[in-house]
Amino acid sequence: MKEKAAEKALEFVENGIVLGLGSGSTVRIFIEKLGEFVKKEGLRIEVIPTSYDTEIIAVKNGLRVTSLLEHPEPDLCVDGADQVDPNLNLIKGGGGALTREKIVAEASKKFYVIVDESKIVESLNMPIPVEILPFAYGFVEKRLKELGYNCKLRMSVKKLGPVISDNGNYIADVEVEKIDVGRIERDFRIPGIIEHGVFPSEMVDLVIVGRKDGAEIIRK
Ligand code: A5P
Repeated sequence: MKEKAAEKALEFVENGIVLGLGSGSTVRIFIEKLGEFVKKEGLRIEVIPTSYDTEIIAVKNGLRVTSLLEHPEPDLCVDGADQVDPNLNLIKGGGGALTREKIVAEASKKFYVIVDESKIVESLNMPIPVEILPFAYGFVEKRLKELGYNCKLRMSVKKLGPVISDNGNYIADVEVEKIDVGRIERDFRIPGIIEHGVFPSEMVDLVIVGRKDGAEIIRK
């Protein structure tokens, strides 16, 4: 189903574009297909990766990597998501790349999301990934607790201690009883929170949902 979504997204790749690339397993599939597509069609495109993981995959698949410094307004950004609600609000950051993902999505002229159907939910209901400056962690955790949120530092698996993001920060997962996008935007404006994983629907142009028998495009 991820493949179906990734294949559909290729239809939006035109010669000469600058393309933001999100992170995660669905994007990995997209990049592999993109590499073949670009080679086969002889396209000249440049990509802006949102994580070290994506950067390595992009280079290994023969894509030309550029930066926001050279191209502050990419033509399109394609990324996955952890959850998508009926209004096309998203939760992202399962892979800890949410900050760069949000920057590139916001910077781009268009933001297209590719997911398999398991990501579609009635309402956003998972802990919200948050990137936090290590210096501020104690304060941020306390402030979130005062606001009624439980903040869990994400721990590494094959290394002692917390997960460190590509930007050198901590990643925490914040439990929220009922996610109200506007309220999260207000409450999470705490010094030391670099970014959070709620991507409001205003950022999203369309969602491509991969299903067993094809891909469906959902527009706002
Ligand atoms: C990375 O931080 C995330 O935002 C991913 O984009 C998201 O978790 C989707 O990943 P998968 O495609 O692996 O489910």
